[in-house]
Amino acid sequence: MSTSTGTDDSVHLPAFPGARSARCPFDPPVEYTRWRLSEGLQRVRTSHGKTAWVVSRLEDAKIVLSDPRISADSRRYPVLTASGQDEKMPPAFPRMDDPEHARIRRMLTGEFTVKRMEAMRPRLRELVDGILVEMIGEGRRPTDLVRAYALPVPSLAISLLLGVPYDEHPFFQQHTATLTSLDASQEERTAARRTLFDYIVSLVKQKEREPGDDLISRLLAERAATGELSRQDVAMIAQILLHAGHETTANMIGLGTLALLQNPEQAARLRDTEDPEVVAGAVEELLRYLTIAQDMMWRVATEDLTLGGQLVRAGDMLSVNLPAANRDAPFQDADTFDIDRNARGHLAFGYGIHQCLGQSLARVELQESLPTLLRALPDLRLAVPLEQVRFRHDMATFGVHELPVTW
Ligand code: HEM
Repeated sequence: MSTSTGTDDSVHLPAFPGARSARCPFDPPVEYTRWRLSEGLQRVRTSHGKTAWVVSRLEDAKIVLSDPRISADSRRYPVLTASGQDEKMPPAFPRMDDPEHARIRRMLTGEFTVKRMEAMRPRLRELVDGILVEMIGEGRRPTDLVRAYALPVPSLAISLLLGVPYDEHPFFQQHTATLTSLDASQEERTAARRTLFDYIVSLVKQKEREPGDDLISRLLAERAATGELSRQDVAMIAQILLHAGHETTANMIGLGTLALLQNPEQAARLRDTEDPEVVAGAVEELLRYLTIAQDMMWRVATEDLTLGGQLVRAGDMLSVNLPAANRDAPFQDADTFDIDRNARGHLAFGYGIHQCLGQSLARVELQESLPTLLRALPDLRLAVPLEQVRFRHDMATFGVHELPVTW
């Protein structure tokens, strides 16, 4: 069994997340394979200069994410907010342990059922079509697909979920885009976040007066009315959903499109199929193969324990290396992108009690946006050489900053 040294050896340790190869940026950094295949866990230096254990095997990842001795609570372990977590995220239910976490999560699961998301699908399809018509109508070629398509889709999907009135969509979209824009300064991003939060607070008040068929209205009627949540809690939950569901999905649309453009046969198969099962399978494989959650799965051991043959001390930080785990068995030829494989069982949405709450919504967004784009623009192609695409190497979620395309 390997043992923890307990010393601060961070300067000599490999960085996590590591650097991807320019030749195939869809593959995790090469050292991840070595970490997965070697005994014990890998000691690393985090993006915030701390030391941590990295868990790279799929089975170990599932154990970490379901072991109650391992905490995600950022108030109990403030190190969690400064270690690759998004510090802008308010301490809220995703950063709590059960039973506190479960109390809030239970109030929200009904909002994200497959059935409810399927009911949203036709409306989402219309929104996707509208965004595409606008992008094509702009007549700009080349155009940045991230700005014109990948960001608006989740922004409008969340507008729909929260019940943002249609004529306020452009305002909502403009400020959500600033949150992720590289061109925006830190001050501009902070201002956009505050504006959005103020907007959400006013939306909550508006829904109190005139309830609609949306998540905020239901939380107010079912939870705020009984005293389980305050009006402020409802606004905070809405903000968390916006934060958790916007950038992630946008990155999957941007990077997913690039992966398809680099694999034209698979893109053609997805474009030409009318079988929803093939589309659903392709989306699962994109989620597995790309696994964008590269630096957001931080936890702390609350007591000494052994994990993957490694002694981990109480208070040690752990990160679950989802990109590595999704290239592990049982996936055969796991480094090959194959939309016809059975990718079920991947961990792109995490695992255990914090497994992505919005995954059914994310799936519908991807199933609608990717094939629609390929069908509307069969000649879609990258407008610059791959080497010039700017990747999000050092961000919590991997993806592309921009995707210059033409058709
Ligand atoms: C393709 C897009 C998405 C990806 C790859 C993704 C990935 C993830 C991952 C890996 C986690 C687990 C975090 C952890 O264990 O620490 C997570 C949690 C979460 N996600 Fe997503 N997500 C996506 C879309 C969404 C959407 C659309 C929403 C909602 C609108 C959403 C809401 C959440 C929430 C609320 C949590 C925290 C759940 C909890 O702690 O109980 N996500 N997501």
